[in-house]
Amino acid sequence: MSAVTLLLSFMLFGELLALSGNFWHITDLHWDPSYELKESPERVCASSGNRPAAHAGTYGAYDCDSPWHLINSSIYAMKEILPNPDFIVWTGDDTPHVSDEDLGEEKVLHIISNLTDIMKQVFPNTKVYSALGNHDYHPKSQLPAGPNYIYNKTADMWQDWLDPESRRTFKEGGYYTERLLNRTGYRALILNTNLYYDQNRLNLDISDPAGQFSWADRVLTEAANNNEKVYIIGHVPPGVFEKKRSKSWFTPKFNQRYMELVQKHHSVILGQFFGHHHTDSFRMFYNPEGSPISAMFISPGVTPWKTTLPGVKDGGNNPGIRVFEYDTQTLLVQDVVTYYLNLTRANVARGQWEKEYRLTESFRVPDASPSSLHQALERIANSNCYLQKYYELNSVSYDLTECNSDCRVDHVCAARAVDFSMYERCLEKEGAVAIHAGLPPVLSVALGLVVASLQ
Ligand SMILES: *[C@@H]1O[C@H](CO)[C@@H](O)[C@H](O)[C@H]1NC(C)=O
Ligand SMILES: *[C@@H]1O[C@H](CO)[C@@H](O)[C@H](O)[C@H]1NC(C)=O
Ligand SMILES: *[C@@H]1O[C@H](CO)[C@@H](O)[C@H](O)[C@H]1NC(C)=O
Ligand SMILES: *[C@@H]1O[C@H](CO)[C@@H](O)[C@H](O)[C@H]1NC(C)=O
Ligand SMILES: *[C@@H]1O[C@H](CO)[C@@H](O)[C@H](O)[C@H]1NC(C)=O
Ligand SMILES: [Zn+2]
Ligand SMILES: [Zn+2]
Repeated sequence: MSAVTLLLSFMLFGELLALSGNFWHITDLHWDPSYELKESPERVCASSGNRPAAHAGTYGAYDCDSPWHLINSSIYAMKEILPNPDFIVWTGDDTPHVSDEDLGEEKVLHIISNLTDIMKQVFPNTKVYSALGNHDYHPKSQLPAGPNYIYNKTADMWQDWLDPESRRTFKEGGYYTERLLNRTGYRALILNTNLYYDQNRLNLDISDPAGQFSWADRVLTEAANNNEKVYIIGHVPPGVFEKKRSKSWFTPKFNQRYMELVQKHHSVILGQFFGHHHTDSFRMFYNPEGSPISAMFISPGVTPWKTTLPGVKDGGNNPGIRVFEYDTQTLLVQDVVTYYLNLTRANVARGQWEKEYRLTESFRVPDASPSSLHQALERIANSNCYLQKYYELNSVSYDLTECNSDCRVDHVCAARAVDFSMYERCLEKEGAVAIHAGLPPVLSVALGLVVASLQ
């Protein structure tokens, strides 16, 4: 063998060894079909409630959910930026933030169906792993722990993306698992965590709604036995919202169960991909010795809608979509590249999706593994410069105001501690106090109802 062929074969081998793949994650599209540019800003969209939609334009408004133009633009931007991803992760919330009276079962299904259709039209040959969001049901957030009309209909719409066994479990409980791209040794686990949402009144007294926890435990145990690596995909994440102190989504016992699931099976879980926040953040999971064992990526939403959660000031975001780069052999997440639309600019000039940042560059870490994210989090916690950068990215470069010391504690503790008592301890350690910590449970529940706002 000549030196040249040797070199060539090494280069070829090197190519094969690189084995880098990528996939899209898109979430929280929240299409508002009522969006229409009108003289009176209060009447632009139903999802603004009574808020006047300031600076509304073709691509949308921060007080509104997405007009069709923005939905279309985001999906075509995916096609233009990365036309052939290995697969797409889509984590739900398709309908607008309007009252249940303004929606209804058929309207919800129509919206899911329309978004499913455009995804299929633009990516006809791409596998999509699709999870239900709390807004993909009527009445909103009341997803049942058993078979129902909406799970049935959605399973039919997603038929092309689901194996026969997935269709069956989806119709039972809105969750499924299959081999990732049907490859031996790789698995996707798509959860219906809306069952654990404290706004979901149906499941509060059930210890394991739809048997999902015991099913997931079984799937992950078998995955370990079969040497599989797993990605977990879902909508509502466990832990605490980073923009509002002590605001969590799961009930305490479900949060605890989720923690235990990850603690037990972290060695096969190579990534967790969630939405619901509309912001860009991440969550760390540690073992009792304090070493990072897993990480959850919370990807930004397409809707720019300003949250109505009391206590969150100017909680809007620019529309974001993102590419995950991963090692196809190990499923290790190598990098995360977020693309965004500067909505203010898009409305006045021409809409242009652009790269917002690359994780490894912005936080100077070698990859997006749990230990690298831990390193990034320590930088954010200890350096104002990294904190400010993280904070601006958190709203997809919408809120460029300064992240003060309260803000720092909220973001750092939310990322560091998914477990509620660890979170409280983090607040104490960082010199802050929990808002709800001292309240008796009854009062907390009452408060929770008053502030009932849904992402
Ligand atoms: C969707 O976007 C594509 C690409 O920009 C464009 O060609 C098409 O006309 C758009 N469709 C609608 C309905 O806006
Ligand atoms: C979805 O609805 C939009 C707006 O009404 C329409 O333009 C589009 O054709 C629909 N898309 C599909 C795939 O049905
Ligand atoms: C769901 O579909 C199954 C058939 O796949 C049917 O037997 C069942 O009655 C349907 N349930 C509801 C609530 O629509
Ligand atoms: C997955 O692979 C198995 C063989 O390992 C094959 O029998 C099956 O048809 C494949 N499924 C799909 C949906 O391609
Ligand atoms: C978005 O566009 C507006 C208007 O052009 C501009 O003022 C603002 O700085 C831009 N934001 C970012 C993050 O580039
Ligand atoms: Zn949601
Ligand atoms: Zn949402």
